[in-house]
Amino acid sequence: MAKHEHIEDESENSNASRRIFLKQSSALAALAITPPAALTAVENGLDEKVAAAFEQMPLQVDINGNVHKLSIEPRVTLLDLLREQLHLTGTKKGCDHGQCGACTVHVDGARVNACLTLAMTTEGCKVTTIEGLSEGGHDATARLHPMQEAFIKHDGFQCGYCTPGQIMSAVACIREGHANSPEEIREYMSGNICRCGAYTNIVNAIIDVKQGGAKV
Ligand code: FES
Ligand code: FES
Repeated sequence: MAKHEHIEDESENSNASRRIFLKQSSALAALAITPPAALTAVENGLDEKVAAAFEQMPLQVDINGNVHKLSIEPRVTLLDLLREQLHLTGTKKGCDHGQCGACTVHVDGARVNACLTLAMTTEGCKVTTIEGLSEGGHDATARLHPMQEAFIKHDGFQCGYCTPGQIMSAVACIREGHANSPEEIREYMSGNICRCGAYTNIVNAIIDVKQGGAKV
């Protein structure tokens, strides 16, 4: 019995080394027959870039009042389009999974998580980001939106990372008619996470804007 086991061990070992040998020799053969230029191209990610160039699709979208005619990959999210391609970095990337609300923008007036929205689905739509909320551009002449003023007045942010998403949701919350009590505001703002815990002041800011009756 012991001898039998020994024979099986030997046979397993030789099978394993044959497999390793075959794997290594096929890898070497593949290297030998692949032109060096192709290998360098793969190393530099050129295959990805060539594929991306072939996959470009046209997109026309109004962002903060400016109509953009773009060429994008169909897999690009609205969040990445805004931040990477258009450099509108006011919209923040927190979780990138629809769980924190940092990326909230308005599409045709409705709030959406830009990280869960494919940019291609905004064809012909009006997108508003935090940069488009104030009036008169975003230089020194701009007039802040009433919700932006209320956040400052009520100290509604600490590090400020969640703030653009909170403000976009807060505006939508009032427009949707969901700002009638602190409880209702908390419920309808619950998709926006603030790791600094500025929630009380955010709710106060929303109540202030709602009761002040300013046009949002
Ligand atoms: S980044 Fe979109 S929900 Fe968190
Ligand atoms: S103010 Fe820091 S995450 Fe909200």
